[in-house]
Amino acid sequence: MRQSRDVIADFRSDTMTRPTEGMLRRMVAAEVGDDCWGTDPTTRALEERCADLLGKEAALFTTSGTLSNQLALRVHTVPGDEVVLDASTHLVVYEGAQSADLGHVVFNTLGAEDGLVSPKDLEMVLGGRARGPAYAAPRLLCLENTVNWHAGRVLPLDDMRRLRSVSGAMGTATHLDGARLPNASVATGVSMAEYAATVDTVSVCFAKGLGAPFGSVLAGPADLIRAAKRFRKWYGGDLHQSGILAAAADYALDHHVDRLAEDHENAVLLAGLLGGNPLLKPDLHVPMTNIVVVDVTATGLTSEEFVAAAADLGVLLGDWRPGTVRAVTSMCVDAAAVRRAADRLNLLAHRATATV
Ligand SMILES: Cc1ncc(COP(=O)(O)O)c(C=O)c1O
Repeated sequence: MRQSRDVIADFRSDTMTRPTEGMLRRMVAAEVGDDCWGTDPTTRALEERCADLLGKEAALFTTSGTLSNQLALRVHTVPGDEVVLDASTHLVVYEGAQSADLGHVVFNTLGAEDGLVSPKDLEMVLGGRARGPAYAAPRLLCLENTVNWHAGRVLPLDDMRRLRSVSGAMGTATHLDGARLPNASVATGVSMAEYAATVDTVSVCFAKGLGAPFGSVLAGPADLIRAAKRFRKWYGGDLHQSGILAAAADYALDHHVDRLAEDHENAVLLAGLLGGNPLLKPDLHVPMTNIVVVDVTATGLTSEEFVAAAADLGVLLGDWRPGTVRAVTSMCVDAAAVRRAADRLNLLAHRATATV
């Protein structure tokens, strides 16, 4: 990617955060063993802490959000089973190949408006296929909260409860991809455990807004987590002195959850500063969490061209859906950087229309 020498704001993703000094100190001091032998005390302590935090019997530290999702598919289903989920989920958009290859599942997708799945959508999609012993059984519903593709929207707790009762009535389990569940929790005041109580398994990422360099956790009933541990090994995801990395996640839980509110305020600030420009249309004028998706079609530039031109001005964005770009606020940007970046993006939009 072209980029100016002076980056003033990196909005590409909240995965761009770097470990802080305090986090690095905690990592260096971590007591380690060998987690493949079940003797890494820091990893075990993190797993116990996460099981508690999410109100589940057990939890497993994994390398990534993708691995947590893939383990969830694997332990809830057998080959040929149907997984019901919105077309905008990370599982569909970015994990389709893995899910086919590793999970051998069939996706039955919903097209929920704004990615917020409703019980009615779910009833329609569950009822819309041939059922019976000869056909794919809808074994798992996968939800995502917050919804990455749709500007970090929060799926309301009541909706999750209703979805659970529809899927439960069909004998379908529920997995929550909560890569950014801490953002949902901080934005709404609903605890992560309350959200997690509406699903069977839940995954949460440490390497997004929480600022750790690595990792995710999958939590759920003890028997499923035991099964997930076996597949984690099969998939090459077992680690030895993982305590060094678990220590970073533990530090993030201590220090970086409440501060997500600052990222949310910065997202609101950015959307407000861009929203005053008729050429730039933020998807949500008041973002719910840390993601701002902006429609740039009125500038006459494609999203790819807009991203490249913004990078030349020192503002790093993601090329998102056609005609849109994504800006994610995180520890990488403070309010001053957001203001400077917004000035440059507004300038870019006006310059673009002056030259087309
Ligand atoms: C909603 C969601 N789920 C899962 C993932 C995958 O996480 P990882 O990059 O750790 O595999 C992401 C990554 O951006 C995500 O946004």
